[in-house]
Amino acid sequence: MVERTLSIVKPDGVRKNVIGDVIGRFEKNGLKVLALKMRHLSKKEAEGFYAVHRQRPFFASLTEFMSGGPVVLMVLSGEDAIRKVRELMGATDPAKAAPGTIRKDLAGSIEENIVHGSDGPDTAAFEIPYFFNTLEIHG
Ligand code: CMP
Repeated sequence: MVERTLSIVKPDGVRKNVIGDVIGRFEKNGLKVLALKMRHLSKKEAEGFYAVHRQRPFFASLTEFMSGGPVVLMVLSGEDAIRKVRELMGATDPAKAAPGTIRKDLAGSIEENIVHGSDGPDTAAFEIPYFFNTLEIHG
């Protein structure tokens, strides 16, 4: 099924100059960029985005990190896009990520892990309109 998913190049990815590397891996694997923008999230915006994790011990530090520098937000589309993006990203913890994945190749820690991708259809349905309105999505 053709799906849409939200992906983010996190502040560590922007700092490490790997925006193009990350987007290139998505494009080379058949995903299409339907929307793209760079934003510096406020703490509140990061907290709203990760609201599902608010009880987790890492919530404060995660939202601090995510609002600590600009991010690149994108909507990707393709066959089985949600699973495909997650496969390309690799496990949340780069130490456990498979060889050749974005996180294995580029990430430094479980928190500063370069990239985000929606983890299911319900999450994508919340995350895409959190950052993009209909007129910004070209597909
Ligand atoms: P992401 O895929 O964006 O979803 C939630 C984020 O929380 C995750 O990537 C990591 O950046 C962060 N995260 C998940 N687990 C941990 C953890 N155990 N410690 C610190 N950060 C975490």
